[in-house]
Amino acid sequence: MTRYQQVLQHLENHRSHWLVTGVAGFIGSNLLEALLKRNQKVTGLDNLSTGYRHNLEQVRELVGENAWLNFTFIEGDIRDLDACRNACKDVDYVLHEAALGSVPRSIQDPIHTNESNISGFLNMLVASRDSGVKRFIYAASSSTYGDHTALPKVESVIGLPLSPYAVTKYVNELYADVFARCYGMNSIGLRYFNVFGPRQDPNGAYAAVIPQWVAALIRNQTLYINGDGETSRDFCFIDNVIQINFLAALTEMPQAVNQIYNVAVGERTSLNRLYEMMRALLSEKFPALRAHKPVYADFRKGDVLHSQADISKAGEMLGYDPTHRIDEGLKQAMGWYTAYLTPGKEEPAAGVASASNERPDFP
Ligand SMILES: NC(=O)c1ccc[n+]([C@@H]2O[C@H](COP(=O)([O-])OP(=O)(O)OC[C@H]3O[C@@H](n4cnc5c(N)ncnc54)[C@H](O)[C@@H]3O)[C@@H](O)[C@H]2O)c1
Repeated sequence: MTRYQQVLQHLENHRSHWLVTGVAGFIGSNLLEALLKRNQKVTGLDNLSTGYRHNLEQVRELVGENAWLNFTFIEGDIRDLDACRNACKDVDYVLHEAALGSVPRSIQDPIHTNESNISGFLNMLVASRDSGVKRFIYAASSSTYGDHTALPKVESVIGLPLSPYAVTKYVNELYADVFARCYGMNSIGLRYFNVFGPRQDPNGAYAAVIPQWVAALIRNQTLYINGDGETSRDFCFIDNVIQINFLAALTEMPQAVNQIYNVAVGERTSLNRLYEMMRALLSEKFPALRAHKPVYADFRKGDVLHSQADISKAGEMLGYDPTHRIDEGLKQAMGWYTAYLTPGKEEPAAGVASASNERPDFP
């Protein structure tokens, strides 16, 4: 039995109370779905700034009314310490996902990114410490590798940050470490690489590359590739992210706690290759896409050229073993986007009428 299978079995037999911040967003709503399907009690905190109620509604449909009764949603802001304290009451495990994502957004508006990602993070640490949670698992980021060009990326070797967003995510790691030293807190930081999957927002100027490209392909809009397309990323399907959150929360090895882990697959895919894979998958349903061509644009500020994770630390310390490589993940994600974005079937609350031709966010 793998470590993950053991952890899933543990969840079947033990009910705990989890707080998922950013629960109405992409990663948070997938964590919520996975927890409710395993009969866990969940509180969710979100200010709905980049997340959506329709994500929560979709989880409700997927898990059914009985499981949904185990969920309490608090509409609130992590910049408000009282809201954090209220959300942390009687909680065993915190999965802290709430933050303002996107490198370009942070370059455009560093102040708001700082408020949610640093002040909000600190509030969550203080509230978690004071309510005595067993463990605080938080979303760190591969952007912390900054200008360090060595590949694959190893947790202990980072460069200088290339954006305000990267600064905030690195400060999270520093604060978590200091809370372990000063207050004996138990935390684990998960440096997510490019995560993708169902419910990742395809709309707006700061959409990530995969959902933005799916939307452009399905809606027959201009699809931009920044640079020559040889930029590469370690794309990570959401199921792998769920796996490592559960492993991190429930590990019983003291040396595995108060650590940082890369979360990816350990493989590199260029944007040109990604585009071809997505076009091929979608062409099965939309044959006109066989003639589709992307438009190449300039490289963008703050983007690193290549990214690939060394995931051996997570494997050795936590038993992390990704179940989905990019092709398997893309198949599932394309299925979901095809169901939700096909013209005439679009999710009304997603604001699809204002779909943009903006250039996508890579990191
Ligand atoms: N998606 C990725 O590839 C990726 C990569 C690295 C790190 N991350 C990190 O993972 C986490 C989740 O990202 P995501 O892709 O699901 O993004 P998302 O935007 O879909 O989800 C973030 C959620 O946090 C909420 N939120 C933002 N500011 C808040 C505040 N002040 N108070 C309360 N709620 C707030 C938003 O409304 C949203 O629902 C973030 O911390 C992000 O920085 C994501």
